[in-house]
Amino acid sequence: MERIYIKDLKDRIGQEITIKGWVDVRRDQGKLIFFDFRDASGKVQGVVLPNASQAHEVGSKLRPEWVVEVQGKVNKRPERAIQKDKQNGDIELEIFAISILNEAETPPFDISNEGREIGEETRLRYRYVDLRRDRMQKNIRNRHKITQFVRNFYTNEGFVEIETPYMTKSTPEGSRDYIVPSRVDKGKFYALPQSPQQYKQLLMTAGFEKYFQIVRCFRDEDTRGDRQPEFTQIDMESSFVAQEDIMAINEKLIVNLVKTLYPEKEIQELPFPRLSYKEAMEKYGNDKPDIRKDKNNLNLLAFCWVIDFPFFEKTDEGGWTFTHNPFSAPKPEYMNNLMDRKDIGDIVADQYDMVLNGYEIGGGGIRNHTAEALKKVFEIMGYTPERIEKNFSYMLKALSSGTPPHGGLAFGLDRLIMLLQNEPNIREIIAFAKTGEGRDPMMDSPSEVQPEQLLELGIKIELPKK
Ligand code: AMO
Repeated sequence: MERIYIKDLKDRIGQEITIKGWVDVRRDQGKLIFFDFRDASGKVQGVVLPNASQAHEVGSKLRPEWVVEVQGKVNKRPERAIQKDKQNGDIELEIFAISILNEAETPPFDISNEGREIGEETRLRYRYVDLRRDRMQKNIRNRHKITQFVRNFYTNEGFVEIETPYMTKSTPEGSRDYIVPSRVDKGKFYALPQSPQQYKQLLMTAGFEKYFQIVRCFRDEDTRGDRQPEFTQIDMESSFVAQEDIMAINEKLIVNLVKTLYPEKEIQELPFPRLSYKEAMEKYGNDKPDIRKDKNNLNLLAFCWVIDFPFFEKTDEGGWTFTHNPFSAPKPEYMNNLMDRKDIGDIVADQYDMVLNGYEIGGGGIRNHTAEALKKVFEIMGYTPERIEKNFSYMLKALSSGTPPHGGLAFGLDRLIMLLQNEPNIREIIAFAKTGEGRDPMMDSPSEVQPEQLLELGIKIELPKK
């Protein structure tokens, strides 16, 4: 018989149907056996009456999480048994026959609640079970709705989604790279991208004008509640734009997204207030201020923009390094300072961060689109001409090949979803997240590889002496 999704049973009253799914709960009362069944679309209660002998025999064996096919008739519940607030609370399946599609070991933990009391290591080790709980199903399904919304939004605004390589070259972006050894070119390595920054700029050179991508980024940094070694950005870039254009379109995206998908949430202030880096530091002591008027209100979203970041800061060694992004341009009025290497500490970057409830959820900038200006940035950071040539010759060449003025932004998608779903960390909204130490306890990764694999790559492991 055709399989009916549990959410559609309400339209099948009086009919004999088949459902497929999991045993959620079993309550054996001897003569009567009650079940809750669950599939991707919802839950329904079923009952085996004493005269249904096959169903009775099989039903008394069933345990939670077993996978079953169930035949039965959809009945309206008597008035006194109706549960108004529950999905399918007004119907019940009268079970005629049950077949077992697969048995299941006793689950490692309870999945009927939110699961916040369970150790995270255990939850991640049995993630495929953990993800069955309602809360996690909602988080992951809403994540899909958000990415879908974002795709549609940019597409309607004329942006093209373009994939960029994951096996690429090590470049400075503020964090450590994950590297991938090459078998063919022994002793050489690819780097996994910390972001598609350079590729998206090269796509501007290539004439696409409006690019976006929902893209995985990789950064070898200490994991925290709002950081994972691999995370997802909503990455975008446009040509012939100024700071205002990039801020406007992305503010529009976020406002539309919240209004459409989270209508219960309140945006504290529209348009998003703007603070300079200096104001934020003076008033809040950090550059991602939590400006919520009421921190107890779960549905309050206090967005703001932080702008006017210093371009460079002093290194411990007394040189200069970039504060945000080496590819940013200075604000137009500071371009002369950059070119003349004058009052370097005063140069303000054409750079903006979007902050939500004390988290940096996105950041971007207008870029240096001339080779001369980008070169100056590297010179100020003390890179030798040889290093600039070796690491960035393609970028400088591209900027000298007809690159339009351009700029963009990237959101941390995981952080945005975490905040919208009222979750305390981004692991709760990533299907297969890593632990705080960057491990995957389910797959047991990272792990050793076969000696032959190392040999093939020309790699010898020498562990530091303890
Ligand atoms: P940035 O480094 O600021 O900018 O990254 C953009 C956004 O990504 C999120 N983010 C992270 N989320 C989870 N885990 C991490 N480890 C992590 N690191 C960053 C943050 C951050 O705001 N190429 C530039 C963007 C641009 O200029 O267009 C970039 O990557 O929410």
